[in-house]
Amino acid sequence: MKTVKVGLLGIGNVGSGTFQILSMNRNSIAEAAGKPVCVAGVLARNKNKKRDIDIDPDIISDDPDCILKSDEIDIVVEALGGIEPATTFMINAMKNGKHVVTANKAAVAANYDKLLKTASENGVQFKFEASVGGGIPILNAVSTVLRGNEFTEIMGIVNGTTNYILTKMTEEGLPYETALKSAQEKGFAEADPTADVEGIDVANKLTILMALAFGVYVKPEEIPTLGISRITEKDIAEARANGEKIKLIAHAKKENGKLQYSVKPMRLAENHPLAGVSNEFNAIFITGNAVGELMFYGRGAGPLPTGSAVVGDIIEISKTITY
Ligand code: HSE
Repeated sequence: MKTVKVGLLGIGNVGSGTFQILSMNRNSIAEAAGKPVCVAGVLARNKNKKRDIDIDPDIISDDPDCILKSDEIDIVVEALGGIEPATTFMINAMKNGKHVVTANKAAVAANYDKLLKTASENGVQFKFEASVGGGIPILNAVSTVLRGNEFTEIMGIVNGTTNYILTKMTEEGLPYETALKSAQEKGFAEADPTADVEGIDVANKLTILMALAFGVYVKPEEIPTLGISRITEKDIAEARANGEKIKLIAHAKKENGKLQYSVKPMRLAENHPLAGVSNEFNAIFITGNAVGELMFYGRGAGPLPTGSAVVGDIIEISKTITY
């Protein structure tokens, strides 16, 4: 029986979470995919770095072509983050006939059309469920079971790092810097956490959500965006005194045929459902003209929740691999 071979570009938070799941759930994944799935190559900057996970050193390389040009790799998982070289690697992988899975919202948001077009031109699949909401299957839901709707509104907390920071500042009175450091240690934050705290990561995710839900591609830099770096302990105390919590909200609404969108911190009444979303959890409200209001909730960051979505995409692709 064919074994599906996966090449991991990067073995940081997302790569290691994906590796761990493919190993710990090997049997159930093989059953779901209809065939075994294994990691056959790993791109790492430092081959000899000591890691918490047990990877055969023979499959680690610092040369991307060992994966991108390998005859045996079927699916490339891009887990490097950042727009480049990640985008070029994904395009080269697809041109070499490989399916691609990524969690990289920056690359998907910046090069949405190009990546989808390359996949279609090369007859391969390109999947990116993990790029929005970590382990929450929001993109799949919007693209499949909810496709019969016309969507009117999306409102969500889609960055685990900033939600974790705001929660720790609000509930434990932690200073901003201490809360950020803790989020980094837990593997929630981007390599450069500026993308998290300035709302750029949320804008990337809103671009992807709007493209799928509304069929409109808006560049992330065209979304009015404000992060949380200027939120002070005083702002949080004032909100609390008023029975409110501050949350970083991605919002898109279609009114009279016009789409309005923004990313900004908002004061929500404590009984608002999004006010109860704490720590690295994310939640997305979406309104469709048939289904009404829906709310998706789950862990939006971290190696295993994000790896869960990556592995889901790997399985869906593996089911279709028949050669
Ligand atoms: N840095 C991101 C976050 C990771 O904190 O949500 C998941 O996209």
